[in-house]
Formats: sequence, structure tokens, C-alpha cells
Amino acid sequence: MTIVHGTVRVPGDKSISHRSLILAALADGQSRIRGILQSADVASTAAALRALGVAIPLLGDDIVVDGVGLRGLRRPESVIDCGNSGTTARLVAGLVAGSGHSATLVGDSSLSRRPMRRIAEPLEAMGARIDLPPGGGLPMAVHGTALRGIEWRSPVASAQVKSAVLLAALVAGVDAAVQEPERSRDHTERMLAARGIAMSVDGNTVRMAASRTLAPADIVVPGDPSSAAFFAALAAMASAGRISLPGVGTNPTRTGFFGALARMGADLEWTEQADTGGEPVATLHASASTLRGIAVGGSDIPAMIDELPLLACVAACAGGETVIRGAAELRVKESDRIAAVVSNLRAIGADAEELEDGMRIRGGTRPLHGRVVTHGDHRLAMAFAVLGAREGNDIEVDDRACVGVSYPGFWDDLKRVVSD
Ligand code: S3P
Repeated sequence: MTIVHGTVRVPGDKSISHRSLILAALADGQSRIRGILQSADVASTAAALRALGVAIPLLGDDIVVDGVGLRGLRRPESVIDCGNSGTTARLVAGLVAGSGHSATLVGDSSLSRRPMRRIAEPLEAMGARIDLPPGGGLPMAVHGTALRGIEWRSPVASAQVKSAVLLAALVAGVDAAVQEPERSRDHTERMLAARGIAMSVDGNTVRMAASRTLAPADIVVPGDPSSAAFFAALAAMASAGRISLPGVGTNPTRTGFFGALARMGADLEWTEQADTGGEPVATLHASASTLRGIAVGGSDIPAMIDELPLLACVAACAGGETVIRGAAELRVKESDRIAAVVSNLRAIGADAEELEDGMRIRGGTRPLHGRVVTHGDHRLAMAFAVLGAREGNDIEVDDRACVGVSYPGFWDDLKRVVSD
């Protein structure tokens, strides 16, 4: 029997944590950030901002940042190491382009393979010069100039592309509009609006008016729904019990996974709805449930993009078939998450098949066991750990340390809420 119990206060939202540091750095005055995610990815953004001349303190539960203003970034003295963090690379490229300085961005072997042309193109259309290696990844040399305003139609729904353009325009003091095929997470636009920037949204297009200043703001970072998802899935797959997750962000551009899990039959309850710094939060209670397969695709995908490896793992022990389509973006995340999830599911005895833009999983009740290869991908490690905690399963994760990118305390929290 796998019985779950207790409360997990998941760490701060990763997307909001990156943005809270960047916007605090660019503000005129002092911002206070409570509950920032203290993880490797956010540390990469903090280090990048320090390289650009901002005095970012050591990450802690309660930090204060003195902004340098929209024109205050300095030319970095050496390359900027973005580690494993795609958000750092793409958002910082926008900052550098808008600042008029030049910088070279590097990253680890996973990040160096990820597509950067999707941000280079709009930044070049604004007047910056970007040098990329033939594969289109890192190292990326960004040469800023006096940028012009832009109306960009992005072929991919990507909050990182949208944010790179908005931040470049913000720093350069020009107007920008970004249209996406589907609406990606909207933290950048919410946070800019909360700091006095004129933003408007029309369908899938977001517009930002030029400004000379950015107001500082004090924020409490909501709990990361992408981290809460692991514990909601763990509870739903358990033999008995319930887990409570207080203070989880419920921004609708992020909560697609919970809707999908509920459609699979999971018993989820939201209480204590509140608002923190323009973002909705609530307590999520998830209980042991009987799960069945579902189909997800199209406009469902952006709001659950980071949770699809987990959805696939849940599907492996749900009754019937689960089909994920319209998720080709998974191939360019920290790993090729379609190939890696399917090959790992097969390696532990599950019935899974790759599709060009997704996967098909036939669930069952047979025990799953074996070793999972994470390729250093944090979300794979946590998704398979949750699957491994299910009654009858025995799964070894090859690289446990990689969870430090988004959830350093994951293994401790997992141990605390599960008993046999
Ligand atoms: C993020 C956007 C998403 C997401 C990533 C974080 C962000 O990436 O997968 O984990 O904070 O903007 P894309 O912009 O590539 O979709």
C-alpha cells in the first residue's frame, strides 16, 4: 500500500521568481521579494543580473533588490553563464539587446542545444545583431543597439519568446506587440502592469507601451503549480490518503494539468482562494482516486506544457489510453521530452509510443520497475519518482541531483508524505 498524508508547501514559482529579480533590477527604487525559489535556475538569473551590474543579494526567503533603472544595466566583463536555464538565456538576451551593450551567453550541454533563433529573429527585427552557432543554440553573442519598436507574430506559443521581446522593448524604451498561436503563460505582462507599464491584451496578442521608468514592487511569490503537480499526481495515484498544498499559484495559463488530472478522475479540491501580487493562489487538496486515460491537445497544451512528462507517467497507471498531441515543443525542452519519456516508460514495462507531436500511453495495473535515464532533466526525475512511489512499482532514477534546477527539497518532501 502507498498511503499519502500531510502538507507540502511547494517552493516559489520558477517563472515568477526569474521575473521578480529581473523587474526588481530594472525598477527605479527598492523591491522586496518574499518566497523566491532558491534553485539553480533562479541562481543563474541572479548571476546574470550581477554580471550586468545589478547588486542582487544572495537568494533567501526575504530579499531586497535596489533597482538600477531601465537605463542602468552595464556591459558585462565576461560571458554570462545561464547554466541549465532556458528562461535565463532568453530573457537575459532580451535585456542585453535592449540595453545597447554586448554580451555572450553560454550554458550547459542541454541548454546549448536548445533553439535560440526563435528569440534572435525578433530581436534582430528590432535592430540588434545576434550571432548563433550553426545549430541555433548557445553560445549566443548579443549586440544591442538603439532598438526600434516591433509587432511580432511568433510561430510558437512561448512565454520566453514573448518575454524576451517585451523586456528588450522595455529596456530600449519602445513599443512592442507579440502575437502567439495560443496564449502562453502571462506572468510578464501581469507583472509589468503591476509596475506601472501600460499593457493590453487582445485575443492572443499582448501590447506594451514604451515607458521611461518601471516602478518597484514588493511581492510574495506564489507556490509553483508545476511543483505542486507532482504531489497532486502522487496523491491521485496513491492507494489511500490525501495531501494538502497551500499557497499554490492558480493562474489559468499554468493550471492545465490539474484540469486534466481531474478529467482523469482525480479527486481535487481547491480552498482558501486568495491573491498575491496580481497572481491568484489557493490551497489544493488531492486524494487517492481511480484514474482513466484522456486525450489532450491543441489549445490545452500551453497551460500544461511542463507537466506533460508527469501526465504521461500518471497515464501509465490509469485505465485505458491517454493521447497527447500538439506538443512538439516538448522535443526542445531540457531534454527531448517525447523521446525520453516514452523510452523510459518502455524501459520500466509500460506501453507507450512516440508520436511526432506527442505520445500515446496505454495504462495498466502491472508493476513497473527498472532504471530511468533523466538526461539531467529535473521534470523527468520528479515525474518518474512519483510513478515509482506508486504501490507495486520500483523505479530508480539515474540522476537525483538534477531536481535542484527547480525543486531542491523534492526528495525530502516526497519521503515525508509517503508511507508504505
Ligand atoms: C517558461 C516558459 C515555458 C516553460 C518554461 C518556463 C517561462 O517555456 O516551458 O519552463 O518562465 O517563461 P517556453 O517559453 O519555451 O514555452
